[in-house]
This record gives sequence, structure tokens and C-alpha cells, in this order.
Amino acid sequence: MHTFKELVTDFGERFGVRHFPQSPASLYEPGEYFLSWGGKRIRPVMCLMGNEMFDSIHPDSYHVATAIELFHNFTLIHDDIMDEAPLRRGMETVHMKYGSNTALLTGDVMMIRAYEYLNKINGQYLHRIIALFNQTAKEVCEGQQLDIDFEKMPDVSLDAYIEMISLKTSVLLAASLEMGAILGGASEGNCRHIYEFGKNLGIAFQVQDDYLDAFGDPEKFGKETGGDIRQNKKTFLLLHALEVTDAEQKKTLKRVMNENPADKVQKVLSIFKACNVDEWAMQLKEKYLATALKHLDDIAVMSVRKKPLEELALFLIQRDY
Ligand code: IPE
Ligand code: IPE
Ligand code: MG
Ligand code: MG
Ligand code: MG
Repeated sequence: MHTFKELVTDFGERFGVRHFPQSPASLYEPGEYFLSWGGKRIRPVMCLMGNEMFDSIHPDSYHVATAIELFHNFTLIHDDIMDEAPLRRGMETVHMKYGSNTALLTGDVMMIRAYEYLNKINGQYLHRIIALFNQTAKEVCEGQQLDIDFEKMPDVSLDAYIEMISLKTSVLLAASLEMGAILGGASEGNCRHIYEFGKNLGIAFQVQDDYLDAFGDPEKFGKETGGDIRQNKKTFLLLHALEVTDAEQKKTLKRVMNENPADKVQKVLSIFKACNVDEWAMQLKEKYLATALKHLDDIAVMSVRKKPLEELALFLIQRDY
């Protein structure tokens, strides 16, 4: 059994090679640039952990983990275009540095590279892994579109927000674990529980991401803070504030959101602070973490095999980057 840290190092060494040809450099250099910044490597490591919970790590797990990390990076490049984000992992985003047209193609070719890695795995699992990968990829698109649709909608329910973040973010964490579990020979029941563990943990993970987008330290977080407020993203922070503020502040909040004043971010942040959002974020994360841990508990393996995932779960909801 390995710890999260050990697996991050192990995967990082294998992944830190060139993934694209040299030419045309105008297409492939932006891809290499983006991948060279690293990242937390949560999803590929979850694939390895999902495998190791049931068996020693199968060589095909590294191919699947690589495909997952490439797919994730592809979604980030396109997400930064959609969110007009200037910074990621403390560096200039691909579309800002190379233009949106190149960023679209860099993302496209990265996704295709992901499928080339998937195609290397043993035929015995290939269909099952591809089916889960494709289902997940479609759901990420659905979630990303809902995220955009919600920008324009004045009233979004907390349930709709949870559904949107499950689709755009948690299904990929869930599927990463399940793909590893499949390669580790897990039973149907265990696959279902590890998927649900990842899905609920992923919700808590995106709640923390949304919290950090408002209140994180940009130096550590590596992304520009206040971006979600600027884009009118319907995060739980905003939904909660709209629900609990008095009529006066609610009016201010709606006006600031519609008018886009220069000090919009500061104004909205101060309303968020006045609403005790810290405590609410904590409650929301605890709720989904508890459900996640129940599914982890229900997986039929010895409890020592669950330790690495327990530790990962706590890190993910407390992280500041
Ligand atoms: C960012 O994911 C996108 C979200 C779903 C919040 P990560 O926070 O895992 O990004 P990296 O790969 O570590 O940079
Ligand atoms: C992104 O959500 C989810 C995907 C990339 C699919 P966010 O837009 O909140 O992610 P960040 O904050 O830019 O990393
Ligand atoms: Mg974004
Ligand atoms: Mg986004
Ligand atoms: Mg975010």
C-alpha cells in the first residue's frame, strides 16, 4: 500500500515526459507548456489508489491514470477560455499566452492523446473502461454547459448547483477511482461504493474550490480569486447569501451582479463575509464527506486498505490550493 504522497511522486515521474511531437511547435508547445506546470495530480492518483485497494498496481493503471490526467488538463484549457481566466497554477493560461484558437486545438489534441493512452490497455477491460470514460466525459460537458447557463439565471436552487458541480467535477473523481478498481478486479458492489465515495467527495472538493475562488490566497491557490463573482457564477456562496441576507442586502447583491461595477468583487465579498459563509461551507463539506465516508466504509475490503483514501479525503476538503 502506498500513501497519496508516494503515488503523486511515482505518477509525477512517469507523467513528466513529453506527450507531444516537436512539430508543429505552434500546436504542441502550448500543450507541453501547460503540462509542465504540474498540478495536484489528484485524479490519476485516485485511479492508482482505486486499483491498489483491491490488488497490487496493474501496469495498465498507469496508462489509464495518464489518460485521465491528460483529459483533466484538456478540460482546464477549455474551461479557462470559457471562464476568461488569466491565471492557473500560478502561470498565464494557454489562451492568454497563445490565443483562444490555439488553446482550443491544444485542448482537442490533448484529449485525443488521452484516448491513445487508453487504447494501450489490455482488451479484457478496454470496453468497460472506455464506456465509463466516455460517459464521464459527456457528463463533464453537461456540467460545464449548466455552469454557463446558470450565469444568466437569477434563481438557481442549491440542488441544481449540486447537480451541476457533480457533473462538471465529481464524476471524474468518481470514475478515476472506479477505473482503478476495475483494473484491480473489484466486484460490482465495490465498484459502486468506490464510485459513490468519489462522487460525494468530489462535491465537497468543488465546494472547497468555490470557497477558495472567493477567499483563497492567490499566491497559494494559483488562480485569480474573485473570478467566479466577476462571471456571475452561481456558487453555493452566492446562493446562500441570496437566501439569508435581509431584503436590503439582497437588493444590493442583485444590483451589483447586474451592473458589474468596478468594485463588484469587493462588494460581493463583503456581503458574503457578513453572511457567515465560512460556517456554511464547512457544513456543506462535512455533509458530503460524511456520505462519502459511509460508502468507503461499505467497501468490502480490510479497513487498512482504506487508509490512503481516508487521508486523501481530509486533504481535499481542507486544502488551500
Ligand atoms: C481544478 O482541478 C478544476 C476543478 C474541478 C476545481 P484541480 O484543483 O484538481 O486542478 P490541478 O490539476 O490540481 O491544477
Ligand atoms: C471547472 O470548474 C470544472 C472543469 C474544468 C470541468 P471551475 O471553473 O470552478 O474550475 P477552476 O476554478 O477554473 O479550476
Ligand atoms: Mg474555471
Ligand atoms: Mg468553469
Ligand atoms: Mg473554480
